[in-house]
Amino acid sequence: MKITFILNDQVIQTEQSGAGTLLDFIRYEANLRGTKIGCREGDCGACTVLSGTLQQGRIVYQSLTSCLTPLANAQGKHIVTVEGFNLPGLNKVQEAMVECSGTQCGFCTPGFVVSLGGYALQENHPSAESAVSAIDGNICRCTGYKSIERAAARVQEALEEQDPDRPMEWLIENHFIPAWFQQIPQRLEALNIPKTSTPKTSGKLLVGGGTDLYVQKPDALPELPLQFVFGNTQVPVIREGNSIRIQGGATATDLMDSPVFLELVPRWYAYFKLVSSTPIRNIGTVAGNLVNASPIGDITAMLLALNARILLEQEDGRQRMLPLKHFYKGYKTLDKSEAERIVEIHLDLPEREPVLFHFEKVCKRTYLDIASVNTAISLRTEGGKIVEAHASAGGVAPVPLYLEKTSRFLEGKTIKPDSLVEALEILQTEISPISDARGSADYKRMLARQLFMGHFLTLFPETIQMEALV
Ligand SMILES: Cc1cc2nc3c(=O)[nH]c(=O)nc-3n(C[C@H](O)[C@H](O)[C@H](O)COP(=O)(O)OP(=O)(O)OC[C@H]3O[C@@H](n4cnc5c(N)ncnc54)[C@H](O)[C@@H]3O)c2cc1C
Ligand code: FES
Ligand code: FES
Repeated sequence: MKITFILNDQVIQTEQSGAGTLLDFIRYEANLRGTKIGCREGDCGACTVLSGTLQQGRIVYQSLTSCLTPLANAQGKHIVTVEGFNLPGLNKVQEAMVECSGTQCGFCTPGFVVSLGGYALQENHPSAESAVSAIDGNICRCTGYKSIERAAARVQEALEEQDPDRPMEWLIENHFIPAWFQQIPQRLEALNIPKTSTPKTSGKLLVGGGTDLYVQKPDALPELPLQFVFGNTQVPVIREGNSIRIQGGATATDLMDSPVFLELVPRWYAYFKLVSSTPIRNIGTVAGNLVNASPIGDITAMLLALNARILLEQEDGRQRMLPLKHFYKGYKTLDKSEAERIVEIHLDLPEREPVLFHFEKVCKRTYLDIASVNTAISLRTEGGKIVEAHASAGGVAPVPLYLEKTSRFLEGKTIKPDSLVEALEILQTEISPISDARGSADYKRMLARQLFMGHFLTLFPETIQMEALV
């Protein structure tokens, strides 16, 4: 298997195993030691690099954690490490970090510089807040975030002067990036790599973004028969009338930025801000989240509450459709054969919009953390009555839980505090949390109750008020 990509300004053609991490290739084969190793679990951002994809003659750059990315997923991409931003003097981002005292020991700094450099390479730079969002996957343990945030704000200020007609030229003239960036689209095009870019292998174990697999069994993976399926998604979300199809390989970022969902669900973007971090969302896929079967998977909880169905495909092309709520048979046990893959996720929308949907999540940290408990709900109402309800909860059972009894109870009920109080009692009968590092069983029961109340307080502020529930 030959893997071809551009690393900074060099074309790479390698016969190395695609199962090794991009991080190890960068550090030990390409000898670029600016990319650091911190946690190797996607948490710290010290290993952040950019991955550029050719789209209609221009390159779209996204940050990712190279410690969890199989080398195979670099196929056909422009990979940019911190060395790729080198100029004779400091570049604009480095300058901002130095002048705002955004670096102390320096170990985390390359990751921050790459993330902010990636932000500069984006098409839009809406606000200082969005510049800070670009570094939500980078952790610093000694400088203090305020100085780094000031550096991000300074980068933002500079970018507000960018010439929209000559964005790349402007970045070069203003010392953000070296001049060779301008030739990358043509050079990548000339490599002539098929759009469905991951190298073909026939192993049984599918690898999407690798954000679960490379945390769970990094050492075993190179020995296993793998099949790389990342990046084969052209249009991640398609709406046809009242039906929505999500590609299994769609990333969390694809879903977060999907115009279809942003239009349908008012707080959609804010919900996804609670899912991992920018570099993880850029590579973690929807199918990966569903098949990983973590009882606290956030995308899983959302799709259960949207009453999704999954389209599974055998190697020979035979397909079957299954309600997602029937996919989970027990802890990490799925209604799926080894050879089946999730190709699509289907949703039906109510005839009349908007979709009444809400998601709640509590974790030990607000961002970049997995849930202690999460829950989602979607409702269809007519004349003050609930006519259809689908609710889910995570962290309260061995599987991502579709709240069957609570959902059925709610159907036909008038939206009023009494109905909710009864629903909360039913909810407690169908969950079975256990005590672990994320909280005691009692605490999780309490969270499930409070978060479920949160759905109604948010969706029906006129009808349901806190005072009536306590
Ligand atoms: C730092 C960090 C933070 C995280 N935070 C969150 C969070 O806040 N919320 C959350 O829900 N998750 C979180 N995750 C988990 C993870 O990012 C998600 O579960 C992600 O969606 C997994 O997708 P992937 O493509 O990376 O999966 P992979 O690791 O590639 O695969 C996971 C499983 O899915 C299988 N698979 C992949 N694609 C397919 C397919 N098309 N068909 C069938 N099987 C397939 C694989 O064989 C494997 O069993 C976090 C992970 C990390 C490292
Ligand atoms: S080494 Fe920490 S995120 Fe990769
Ligand atoms: S400067 Fe030391 S960890 Fe960030």
